[in-house]
Amino acid sequence: MIDTLTPLSDEQREIQRLAREFATSEIAPFAGAWDKAEAADPAVRFKLGELGFLGMLLPTEYGGLGLDSLSYLLALEEIAAADASTAVLMSVHNSLPTRMILNHGSDTQKRHFLPRMATGEWLGAFALSEPDAGSDAAVLTTQAVRDGDHWVLNGTKSWVSNGNVAEVILAMARNDSATDRKGSRGISAFIITPDLPGFRVSKKEAKMGLRASPTVQLTFDGMRVPADRVLGEVGHGFVYAMQSLEAGRLGIAAQAVGIARAAVEQTIAYTRVRQQFRTPLAQFQAVQFKLADMATRLHGARAMLHATAAAKDRGEAVGPHAAMSKLMASEAAMWITTQAIQLFGGYGYVTDYPVERLFRDAKVTEIYEGASEIQRIVIGRALAAD
Ligand code: CAA
Repeated sequence: MIDTLTPLSDEQREIQRLAREFATSEIAPFAGAWDKAEAADPAVRFKLGELGFLGMLLPTEYGGLGLDSLSYLLALEEIAAADASTAVLMSVHNSLPTRMILNHGSDTQKRHFLPRMATGEWLGAFALSEPDAGSDAAVLTTQAVRDGDHWVLNGTKSWVSNGNVAEVILAMARNDSATDRKGSRGISAFIITPDLPGFRVSKKEAKMGLRASPTVQLTFDGMRVPADRVLGEVGHGFVYAMQSLEAGRLGIAAQAVGIARAAVEQTIAYTRVRQQFRTPLAQFQAVQFKLADMATRLHGARAMLHATAAAKDRGEAVGPHAAMSKLMASEAAMWITTQAIQLFGGYGYVTDYPVERLFRDAKVTEIYEGASEIQRIVIGRALAAD
């Protein structure tokens, strides 16, 4: 009743089955403990790599699976339904750094970085935001200054998922000068590795949700970056980041769908067995109406996501629809997990059941990779321009 209605190819069904099997046996049983410990088992990343889930969108020539977006999002939903923290690792890695290198990297960069990223030997992270540049990303101030065959970077990047465990970080920094600011066209993308002198993890955030996924602040203190680590053209980093975020937002939408599905599944199971007034909760019409609304919003969010992914796979431009997908899925996940807590009552508010974790994890999907307000800006601008 709550599985996808999207027609799937045999290959897509197989990917979905593989992801569900892995998520059910290797992730779901441990997600609660990882949340409490604020750390996942580091082996999970390598297991995802072995399955090919860290190179799902990369062509086979770089060691990837060369799959379509829909296959990737189906797998991501399964992983997120088991553990949203593991899902964000998979989403950021596949959607942002690997895609940026694939789309804009030189041959040498692609051959050096992508095969190792596809296996999970090297994990990718994405560093755009700063303490004073979040939604308004173009005002970032991390400065890059050319010095011979190096760039010297100074500044602080915030909210970097997996930034303390990643081997490859795509970081955006200004290449324009204080006397000649070029706005979003004065920003370049750099391929950073933690071995560079001047690289430092300066803070690990203590978070409400997604606690098994580290979120850190990075400080670049006179960090010397070889000139061949610039991605694509100097001054194009902001546009590359925006293009990647478009795809990234589909990943976060899939993560939100996975969280929402887990909440619906668990609430259905609970209300079928939990009795009050000598009647299972699921027999009360008031409860059925809530379950009906939860399942309907889940289907709506997933249907929009899959339709957008299919359009993307046909080569169509999907910027505003990607924003709509993230907006709809993240708000559905927040609403659905809120209803789940209500139907679990006191048991939803304590840590004995996973729904409180789902509720805490859902919240960030309305915030990161562009807050809901940013998605509305992207959609609204496109509507006004039509
Ligand atoms: N594709 C291609 N180009 C794009 C684009 C896209 N999707 N979006 C914008 N651009 C281009 C524009 O065409 C423009 O190019 P020109 O200079 O040639 O005109 C340039 O980029 C600047 O665009 P805007 O004028 O639209 O820029 P803006 O300053 O008004 O900002 C914004 C637009 C949509 C608000 C943008 O700042 C934004 O997306 N903000 C949110 C940032 C975000 O999502 N951050 C998440 C960080 S990652 C994270 O969450 C952590 C993690 O690890 C998961």
